[in-house]
Amino acid sequence: EDQLAENLPLRNKKVLITAGPTYEAIDPVRFIGNHSSGKMGFELAAAAHAAGAEVTLISGPTHLEKPAEGIKLVRVQSAVEMFEAATASFPEVDVAIASAAVSDYRPKISATQKIKKSAETMELQLVKNPDILASLGESKQHQILIGFALETENEEENALGKLRRKNLDFIVLNSLNDAGAGFKAETNKVKLLFKDEKVKAFSLKSKKEVAQDILNEIILLINE
Ligand code: CTP
Ligand code: CA
Repeated sequence: EDQLAENLPLRNKKVLITAGPTYEAIDPVRFIGNHSSGKMGFELAAAAHAAGAEVTLISGPTHLEKPAEGIKLVRVQSAVEMFEAATASFPEVDVAIASAAVSDYRPKISATQKIKKSAETMELQLVKNPDILASLGESKQHQILIGFALETENEEENALGKLRRKNLDFIVLNSLNDAGAGFKAETNKVKLLFKDEKVKAFSLKSKKEVAQDILNEIILLINE
């Protein structure tokens, strides 16, 4: 029993992870999206699965290989679809990690037919998407809730603001300033920021190693 606890520290735990970009349809063939690869979320899912957790991975469009057998993959396109899938599973889970790069806005109207070119300029009206993580934070009960942030200025202050607004246990601050870290890279350099303003800084590592560092922190919180 003790050995099981050591080898599978997340056994009997349910973990929800959002990953990848969202695609917001402009018309049947065009969308607003971003360069998120989904890699960080897929690595988190693999690490949680290896630690014995029952994992649900809600992912926007990616080119990544299918995750391991045993990981429940829910594929979505838009932020609204991701919101619906995430809020539906949240009550059942012990841990939720929002690593998706959710589009903040979507076209107000998604045309049913391919839009034809006409005038020299065109405007696209956008409306705000639901904030998935903030909504999970509002309905949070026993869950451990983790978010990500990527800032270009006042990094720690902005990330702490998100931690508070979204009712998180900790937030993973991605550094954009270091070569090799960021959206499409294989590596990441992160700081974990906690509610009490404690900061844990990590060195530049592979996303697989970063995923393990984040999971180790979650395991510490669970065993607290
Ligand atoms: N997030 C989310 N739903 C959204 C927007 C963001 O779940 N509609 C989550 C992201 O997955 C991430 C965290 O919120 O874990 C922070 O995302 P970020 O884009 O950095 O913050 P925003 O709150 O969108 O603020 P801004 O883009 O203005 O900095
Ligand atoms: Ca955003």
